[in-house]
Amino acid sequence: DWRMDSFVEESIRQIREKVGSGKVLCALSGGVDSSVAAVLLSQAVGDQLTCVFVDHGLLRKNEGDEVEAVFGSEGNYDLNFVRVNAQQRFYDKLAGVEDPEAKRKIIGEEFIRVFEEEAKKIGAVDFLVQGTIYPDVVESGLGGESAVIKSHHNVGGLPDYVDFKEIIEPLRDLFKDEVRKAGLELGIPEYLVFRQPFPGPGLGVRIVGEVTAEKVRIVQDADAIYREEIANAKMDRSIGQYFAGLTNMRSVGVMGDERTYDYAVALRAVNTVDFMTAEAAEIPFEVLQKVMSRIINEVKGVNRVFYDLTSKPPGTIEFE
Ligand code: XMP
Repeated sequence: DWRMDSFVEESIRQIREKVGSGKVLCALSGGVDSSVAAVLLSQAVGDQLTCVFVDHGLLRKNEGDEVEAVFGSEGNYDLNFVRVNAQQRFYDKLAGVEDPEAKRKIIGEEFIRVFEEEAKKIGAVDFLVQGTIYPDVVESGLGGESAVIKSHHNVGGLPDYVDFKEIIEPLRDLFKDEVRKAGLELGIPEYLVFRQPFPGPGLGVRIVGEVTAEKVRIVQDADAIYREEIANAKMDRSIGQYFAGLTNMRSVGVMGDERTYDYAVALRAVNTVDFMTAEAAEIPFEVLQKVMSRIINEVKGVNRVFYDLTSKPPGTIEFE
């Protein structure tokens, strides 16, 4: 793609000019925007850049390791990559908290605190990288809908908390599909480039009610099975967004000749143009049945599986 080719070249030139010999800090979430921004910066300024990846323990199954495999010392890029394993810190803060907005706030604030501590270790920083893309610029100008319904936590909104001179937003003029093209151009693996949207507070908003390490384990395992079967059914590129969540409901069931009293998993899959409205996706019944029986057989602590038919509105895509 010649246009992306020249975008990458031109961005690298501009970044070098702006940064000079300065130190650059980047919050890397493993999402497509921050990944593309990080790789672009790394190609432009090499080891003047440090990327901090906070594992808040609310990521999808194996996600932390996958991000590390790509960006860490054994990975595809020569960049200073710091992974912070802050799982327990987040679980401790979230213990006993049930209110969705309180959970979002705690996760957002703890994220900033962890990031800030890492920034201090790195020392004086001149530039902070943000993976802002064009729709974010527009949305914040108009006061985007989700910003009103739910407090939005994005792994980019840190400027007040870290001492730095200037922000670099290399993707500010790009739409999502252009960011993906740039990502492919930069050699980022397809599974990262075509990743589904994943909220900043992660599984924290897919577990209804209190978050515990046990519930995180359940939802990670159920979601991994769901994603695997959707991919087997060749539906992984056609459904807008899909994931497993955990209801806060426990109910009676029977397994062998034992009574069970376990959690109910809810499967969500939506088609959407702009994520402002959405409709439940039509998944063949035999695919849903396969997912149900695998989750119940393979994930300890689950004895019921629901499929969420709710549109947005009145539902939202995430559960909280
Ligand atoms: P809702 O649940 O509001 O989700 O219908 C709409 C889209 O936004 C994503 N989402 C988030 N993304 N930080 C994000 O970066 C957040 O706090 C957040 N909450 C929801 C959601 O996955 C869906 O694609």
